[in-house]
Amino acid sequence: MNEKSLYKVWICGLFGTAVVLGALSGNGAKPAAPIKPAAADTPAAEAPAVSKQLTALVAEQGTGIKVMKSSDWAEQYPHEYETYMLNNDNSEIHDYIEENPYIKTLYEGYGFAISYGSARGHTYVVEDVTSTGRPHKLANCFTCKTSDFTAKVLNDGDSAYAMAFEDMEVQVTDAFGCFHCHSNEPGVIYITHPYVSNNLGADLEKVDPATLSCAQCHTEYYFDPATKATMVSYHGLAQISPTDSLEFENSLVDAEGNMFADWVDADTGVRKLKVQHPEFETYMGEGSVHASFLSCADCHMPTKTAEDGTVYTSHMWVSPLQDPDLLNSCAQCHKEDMAEKVHKIQEATRARENELGYALEQLDKDLASAIQAGTLSDEDLEAVRLASRNAQWYWDYVFVENSEGAHNTKLTNQCLDLAQQYLDEANSYLQ
Ligand code: HEC
Ligand code: HEC
Ligand code: HEC
Ligand code: HEC
Repeated sequence: MNEKSLYKVWICGLFGTAVVLGALSGNGAKPAAPIKPAAADTPAAEAPAVSKQLTALVAEQGTGIKVMKSSDWAEQYPHEYETYMLNNDNSEIHDYIEENPYIKTLYEGYGFAISYGSARGHTYVVEDVTSTGRPHKLANCFTCKTSDFTAKVLNDGDSAYAMAFEDMEVQVTDAFGCFHCHSNEPGVIYITHPYVSNNLGADLEKVDPATLSCAQCHTEYYFDPATKATMVSYHGLAQISPTDSLEFENSLVDAEGNMFADWVDADTGVRKLKVQHPEFETYMGEGSVHASFLSCADCHMPTKTAEDGTVYTSHMWVSPLQDPDLLNSCAQCHKEDMAEKVHKIQEATRARENELGYALEQLDKDLASAIQAGTLSDEDLEAVRLASRNAQWYWDYVFVENSEGAHNTKLTNQCLDLAQQYLDEANSYLQ
């Protein structure tokens, strides 16, 4: 048994306590057993043992907990801390607006039309949110950026989300901390973002804790129109699809009695929605080939051996194509060249994304002209606006998902098909 598996026993030991407590409160059901992968075009080996800690613990609220900073753990967990600091090396950023000029029209009137850089390493999150050219007003922008804010929400409840951005900014001591995923117990997975535990409810036990740790931020969220709290638009895994989330957001009403919108396009009156990095939903969604046997960490947090022989999990979160150990792990099941397989999927996805992006831009322009010309009846105008909102939702669901089709090719293509359908519907009124 190597040191890494010792760690796992230790983690499971702690989990054992949690199960006993859980059983007392009627929550002790075991997670669904991981199922083996379906027949692949490459013969699949045994699914690797992934469940170290069987269920994520849920951080308690209102306890006055104080955040231990990442640097506080440097001595006790040197390998995890050193690799965490390596996220600084992932510093490259590219400009989405320059690369995809049509998004200036699609997001017009919203911050992302002004400034939209690609993602980079976790250690840059606070710098990136404070320096963005996008206007930001409330502390809820810190939800996925700093554990100081995570602790504030745990301690003060929903009122924290509506604080002024600047009032929170001065309290930040720990950009992207260990606390997000481990509370103050490194190695044990905690859900510290309450909207994840609230919305998944009993289904928490069906998802690998390592995947849940990422779901706290790599998720499609919205801000509640009344409280400004960060929310997820579904309850339980059965509603995790993009269509269920859209239906839910279409059924929300804001303070003025209008259909909920992230912003309203001034030229067309379309009440638009912004999708945000739905990695968790895409990965767990229908059509995902890996979700039942691999966690996000299996593909994004390589297992490493230190010079002294300690086996540990790297906390430098990377693309599996950038790390030889991760790429080797694919070979358990895949014989083909994985970089090539992934790039092929991504090229096909980008081609469709761009084609639809330009077509949606044209729709915005044609609708603005039709409104100016006064050629549409009120009823038709409302129908085009709704179809346009829905088309952009499905397109955005793919555009902002960071794997560009690799996490779930089937769902990705279904979204793009639906975007096309709603686009055709909208255009049918404008002929
Ligand atoms: C507290 C919120 C949060 C959690 C938890 C989180 N992430 Fe992230 N992640 C982010 C943000 C925000 C960014 C973008 C950072 C930036 O650009 O400033 C990011 C970026 C990344 C990147 C780099 C993307 C790139 O283009 O270089 C990877 C890979 C990643 N996350 C994977 C994961 C995995 C895997 C997990 C779970 C083990 C996880 N993240 C958990 C918020 C989070
Ligand atoms: C985004 C979530 C996330 C953050 C932030 C995070 N970890 Fe982890 N950590 C994990 C996951 C997931 C695992 C388990 C990996 C697995 O399932 O193989 C883990 C495992 C560990 C372990 C168990 C031993 C090992 O290496 O597998 C230790 C110790 C640990 N983390 C320490 C830290 C420290 C210290 C920090 C801050 C510097 C930190 N973690 C930040 C997600 C996180
Ligand atoms: C089977 C392996 C696998 C699993 C499991 C997996 N991913 Fe990925 N992920 C990929 C691949 C492949 C890419 C595309 C990498 C690239 O473009 O270089 C990717 C890309 C990403 C990116 C963008 C990284 C970058 O550098 O551009 C993020 C963020 C991400 N995944 C998060 C997650 C989260 C969160 C989960 C769990 C909900 C997850 N992944 C589960 C394989 C996986
Ligand atoms: C335990 C087995 C297993 C492991 C490990 C594994 N995969 Fe897979 N993967 C599968 C199966 C099964 C399929 C479905 C058949 C196929 O496309 O080959 C698949 C499909 C895929 C697809 C197509 C996705 C889709 O939605 O159609 C990608 C991309 C992929 N894998 C990437 C990876 C990467 C990258 C790694 C390593 C970081 C990896 N896989 C590790 C079993 C595995």
